[in-house]
Amino acid sequence: MEIVKHIQDINNLLKTYRTKRLTIGFVPTMGALHEGHVSMIRKARNENDIVVCSIFVNPIQFNNKEDLEKYPRNLERDIEILSKNSCDILFYPDVEEMYPEEVQTKYDFGYLDKILEGEYRPGHFNGVAVVVKKLFDIIEPDKAYFGEKDFQQLVIIKKLVNDFTIPVKIIPCPIIRENDGLAMSSRNMRLTPDERKIAPAIYQLLMRSKGKAKTLSVEHLKKWIADEIKKFPFILEYFEIADSVTLKPIIKWEESENPIALIAVYLGKIRLIDNMFLKDE
Ligand code: PAJ
Repeated sequence: MEIVKHIQDINNLLKTYRTKRLTIGFVPTMGALHEGHVSMIRKARNENDIVVCSIFVNPIQFNNKEDLEKYPRNLERDIEILSKNSCDILFYPDVEEMYPEEVQTKYDFGYLDKILEGEYRPGHFNGVAVVVKKLFDIIEPDKAYFGEKDFQQLVIIKKLVNDFTIPVKIIPCPIIRENDGLAMSSRNMRLTPDERKIAPAIYQLLMRSKGKAKTLSVEHLKKWIADEIKKFPFILEYFEIADSVTLKPIIKWEESENPIALIAVYLGKIRLIDNMFLKDE
């Protein structure tokens, strides 16, 4: 695997592959890789000639200073994981390389970046869009892989690609979970052992919501969750039921063919998000 730190170098390297008409699959990450990331690398490996992964802890998408400072970093282990899974190129730029000047760019995704995560993490999706657009410009991938774990991010990236007619195919990848159901996340390693035991309750509540969705109204389901959450030491930021294409919250089941439940909670200092389609896929 080649490890590249500079934009100029990755440009030169990828140019040689492009002239040979090799396809490029791209998996953007912030490192501290886990099975969720690995599943995307494997998918990219199966579907492309060349696999590029980026590791960049993007400072402008953090709206919480402590979250940025404490974000887990483990480059050596990440390199080992990527090599083992036959990644061809790791792009690992530093902040000055990506942002030589202060970022002024402002994207407008309408309601999409103001609801759910957007409401609780102002500026977050602008930071994500800025870095992903730059990475797309640098790498010019044929396909790019994004996890459904960050469902709103996936919807926003699809909109970014549409709005700017970026010639890349966005490939959604299913959520990979621990054996007890907790959605894998780099932040999970910051949970205390006691918190780690409680955290899978989010998955269990989502599973039970899926069952309840067959009999309860949207309103009653939301009320049920609000009551259930109180039995755990979670601080609920939101539990919303939305259409999985538009992400617009729904009031009646008839409003969506494929509704999705989305949740964000704090457990101690750690913010956890998860989601689940409510109809059987
Ligand atoms: P990061 O949190 O490292 O996630 C990188 C990619 O892995 C994202 O597309 C995310 O949705 C996906 N992912 C994370 N956990 C997953 C899981 N349990 N199952 C499946 N996919 C999972 O998301 C980011 O980084 C950043 O916002 C980024 C897109 C790299 C821009 O900075």
